[in-house]
Amino acid sequence: MELPPALRQAVDQALHGVALADLKRAADILSRRYRGEVRDGRLHLSDRLAAQAYLATRLPATYAAIRASLAAITDVRPDFAPATLLDIGAGPGSALWAARDCWESLEEATLVETSDAIRKVGADLATHAAPTRVSWVPGNIETGLPELPRADVVTLAYVLDELPPVLIGRVTDQLWALTCDTLVVVEPGTPAGWRRILEVRGRLIAAGAHLVAPCPHQAECPIAAPDWCHFSRRVARSRLHRLAKNAEVPWEDEKYIFIAASRTPGESPAARVLSPPQSASGTVRLKLCRHDGSAAERLVSKREGTAFKTARRLDWGDAVWRDLG
Ligand SMILES: C[S@@+](CC[C@H](N)C(=O)[O-])C[C@H]1O[C@@H](n2cnc3c(N)ncnc32)[C@H](O)[C@@H]1O
Repeated sequence: MELPPALRQAVDQALHGVALADLKRAADILSRRYRGEVRDGRLHLSDRLAAQAYLATRLPATYAAIRASLAAITDVRPDFAPATLLDIGAGPGSALWAARDCWESLEEATLVETSDAIRKVGADLATHAAPTRVSWVPGNIETGLPELPRADVVTLAYVLDELPPVLIGRVTDQLWALTCDTLVVVEPGTPAGWRRILEVRGRLIAAGAHLVAPCPHQAECPIAAPDWCHFSRRVARSRLHRLAKNAEVPWEDEKYIFIAASRTPGESPAARVLSPPQSASGTVRLKLCRHDGSAAERLVSKREGTAFKTARRLDWGDAVWRDLG
């Protein structure tokens, strides 16, 4: 997945003239803090250089994960046309750009962010995001959010891993109360990220929410540790991204997990593909989470005709609309 051209240009402009050695150092510190899930009371994006390193090395991946999560919503609800977005822990506005790319109907966005440094960087980028009207609000979800407008879509992407785990329930309730239609929470696709999403999922179901994606059911999650549910998006790396990370490969695979829940009940797919399909001569092996709440492998053979044709076209993360049996 590539960034939309307007975002790519805005990022290039924001990084113009930044010394590569400084960017590399900041990217390295950032990467170690994210990998270690460090919660030492300091914000990862507390200064301008860290914010610029985030633009160069993380924004493409978080954008891709959020965009893919929103695509999963439109797959289940093609007629959903939200006009307003509220994004908490907005960083450089990744969710704004993803939502704008996903829904032409988007008119207004409120982006809440506690770090002054990344808020300024994001606000500069967002000047290129017309025609959506964007308001940036300083606010900290841990200590208490200011008065905020409710929105058709509320997003929280890659933020829970920076908050104390005891806050997950309270934050979920707060965001659900601000949601007119759909709440989307995205996390890194690690076992810890999945456990946080499971907690959000349970809380939303208890609040009466209807799960939109990725789960094709509201029953208990059938996945058991050490396995975990996650998806992946291949992300193109810019030249600067490669240089900042000392990486040679022009792409990376971003693993992510998400939950999208709505106040509006809708149709659920028959299943969701939970891992890369394995094709061999005349067969496709699929790992499926099913509408009946079960998860299992299904070997589809060429002899099954239409089911095989469907199975051959499926990819990791896809919704399966036809019951494959
Ligand atoms: C990993 S970044 C994610 C940014 C953006 N959502 C994305 O997906 O690219 C996490 C963001 O959450 C912000 N954040 C962390 N703790 C917060 C809090 N208590 N309240 C509001 N924002 C917070 C950080 O400053 C940072 O910008």
